Amino acid sequence: MLAFLLIVGLSFYVMASSLSGMVGDSLFEQRIRSDRSSLETLASRVAPLMARSDAQALHAQLLAAGGELGGRILLLDQNGKVQLDSYGEMYGARLQYPEVTNILVRGQSVDYGVHELDSGTVLNRSRLLFMRRTGTAWAGYCTAGIVYASDIIGVLLLVSPVQEIMQNLYQLQDQMILIFVLIAAAALLSSWVFSRVITRPIAGLNRGIQRMSKGDFSSRVRVRGSGEMKQLALAFNSMSEKLETLDQSRNQFVSNASHELKTPLATMKIMIESLIYQPEMDKDLRTEFLTDINNEIDRLSAIVSDLLTLVQMDSQNVKLSRENLSIAALIKENAHRLQPIASQKGQQILLSLSDPCDIYADKSKLNQVIYNLMENAVKYTQNGGVIRVNLQRQGRDARFTVTDNGPGIPKENLPHIFDRFYRVDKARSREKGGTGLGLSIVHQLVLLHGGAISVESEEGRGATFIVELPLHQG
Ligand SMILES: Nc1ncnc2c1ncn2[C@@H]1O[C@H](COP(=O)(O)OP(=O)(O)O)[C@@H](O)[C@H]1O
Ligand SMILES: [Mg+2]
Repeated sequence: MLAFLLIVGLSFYVMASSLSGMVGDSLFEQRIRSDRSSLETLASRVAPLMARSDAQALHAQLLAAGGELGGRILLLDQNGKVQLDSYGEMYGARLQYPEVTNILVRGQSVDYGVHELDSGTVLNRSRLLFMRRTGTAWAGYCTAGIVYASDIIGVLLLVSPVQEIMQNLYQLQDQMILIFVLIAAAALLSSWVFSRVITRPIAGLNRGIQRMSKGDFSSRVRVRGSGEMKQLALAFNSMSEKLETLDQSRNQFVSNASHELKTPLATMKIMIESLIYQPEMDKDLRTEFLTDINNEIDRLSAIVSDLLTLVQMDSQNVKLSRENLSIAALIKENAHRLQPIASQKGQQILLSLSDPCDIYADKSKLNQVIYNLMENAVKYTQNGGVIRVNLQRQGRDARFTVTDNGPGIPKENLPHIFDRFYRVDKARSREKGGTGLGLSIVHQLVLLHGGAISVESEEGRGATFIVELPLHQG
């Protein structure tokens, strides 16, 4: 801020001094020209008189000229000594003004300078801004050499007041000072506005980022202004919102996972304690308990292996080991695998595979997708239901659907169906040995293959899961 003002001040000073120098020059120019020419004429006129040492005629000439030019005229000899003074005061004094020396020593024919009358200071027009201004009278000193027979025999000095010109310059200075104050005020104002518009939001953003880096994902910044700054603030907010959701879903996942693992552990503990504290327990009951414990262990290991699958897919660098395979063949295999359970429930699995759909994909992962969807259909559909599996080519995609006429999925549950641990009927699904992770794994696997999955269902009328997979990569 200070540097900014300094720069403005400095540039203004440079500008002002060169401007006042220029104006001073042009104001003086006129005067110098007229003074010079009058003095030169006078010099040529007095030269013969001086050569003759005609003091009387000289005196008369100078007095007349002084009145005419409105100034004081002095006649100096070769040594700079005053011979005549139209004011009649300075006889015999030796004047060593630069204007006089320039003529006598350097051989100039005319010269001009501006002096302060009291101190004799010479005015430097480029330093006008610095001069003292009160109570000083300024005078222009115009000199001309008196040449006779190509020798300089004396110098004429015309001292004329330049108060009027100086007054104009003072006025100019006043105006420039005023302008400077205005510019400084404008600069201050604009830098203040600048800081409000630019610096403040950046500082806000910075604070937000710091809060976020300390783990506070609820941090949001105020969106204000327009253009880039606003864009940046919006981007920051949407980023922190995403991070917050991510953070929450991670916590949710951990707490769900712990809960899922705790339930079978608690059940097992109760049963094992009964076995310990009731040694005389009926043998059949004992076997039943042990079977239940065995089932719980199966469930636990299913959950753990599903969790492992999910975690592996979450790490960014999942490798698909692709090979050429036929989706139709995979479906037939899985239908064969599920046939015993379906038969037990009196269900029919109907396949309609209109195209082999050859694909270059990860066999075990694709198998998991097909198995999970078909297993769900068999598992959640009542006895005697029908499961239809359809495969067809649709442009560059394979479209694979699994439809059942089971209970379906209520509308309000549909958006969450691919979430981890999400089950429509918690008690029933758990009873059926489900982990609630199957569909979220399927979802991830389909995404990994560049495909899409969706579900359509009407409660009580069954459900259809639709998978679309691109047959050719890239
Ligand atoms: N074909 C289906 N018909 C009705 N409900 C289904 C079907 N498939 C899945 N669901 C519901 O979606 C939930 C999540 O399925 P999933 O992720 O495979 O978990 P799991 O089968 O282990 O319970 C199931 O608990 C069930 O409530
Ligand atoms: Mg399942």
